[in-house]
Amino acid sequence: MADVLSRDGGDPLRADRLVGLLAQALELRDERTGLHSRRMSCLAGLIACKLGLGKECCDAIRLTSLLHDIGKLAVPDRILLKPGPLTKAQRAVVERHPLVGYELLAGSGSSLLDTAAVVALTHHERFDGGGYPRRLARFQIPLEGRIAAVADVFDALITDQPYRPRLSVDEAVATIRRGSGSRFDPEVIDAFLGSLDDALQVYADTGSAEARAACPAWHSALGGSDGEGGLQ
Ligand SMILES: [Fe+2]
Ligand SMILES: [Fe+2]
Repeated sequence: MADVLSRDGGDPLRADRLVGLLAQALELRDERTGLHSRRMSCLAGLIACKLGLGKECCDAIRLTSLLHDIGKLAVPDRILLKPGPLTKAQRAVVERHPLVGYELLAGSGSSLLDTAAVVALTHHERFDGGGYPRRLARFQIPLEGRIAAVADVFDALITDQPYRPRLSVDEAVATIRRGSGSRFDPEVIDAFLGSLDDALQVYADTGSAEARAACPAWHSALGGSDGEGGLQ
């Protein structure tokens, strides 16, 4: 995480700290999306590690996934906070969020923010090409996006949504499995299933030492190394 955004004559701002600040802003705007992003980013990091990616890459995926839904900052409250199903027109507004997030994050000169931009842009693409916004397919979708897609959907399935109650873990896992090869990259699904015990720690007890070890982003990414001061 040596990535630094420099400003003329001022203190450099570490890109990882900037990612944390942006995640805090999203959580202040909409706590539900913010907490979803924390859990989802933990899962994405665990999947990345199970895929055998290096520590630096896993850390980058975990951290940048915090911003996968940052484009929802541009969704009006009457839609973002609507306590029920969306109309077709409202859904179209929400579905702009990958592109809005990408445009916010891309082009800074920071490799970490560039990764965040890619995650934001591609987390709703589907392996079979049926996703959005660009209908990318298979390996046109960057690995970060294929990982984020699985983590994003799993978290959505096992938490209450305005349009349906949560599924059980077994039901959610079965749904994810059924998406292997169609909605999701089969290799990423295998890694997800292989990291499921650790992933469920994110939901079982977010305050445990095990959860801290499995997912330091939950406790520290937004509030410092010891987890104090973050939004919980
Ligand atoms: Fe999203
Ligand atoms: Fe999401």
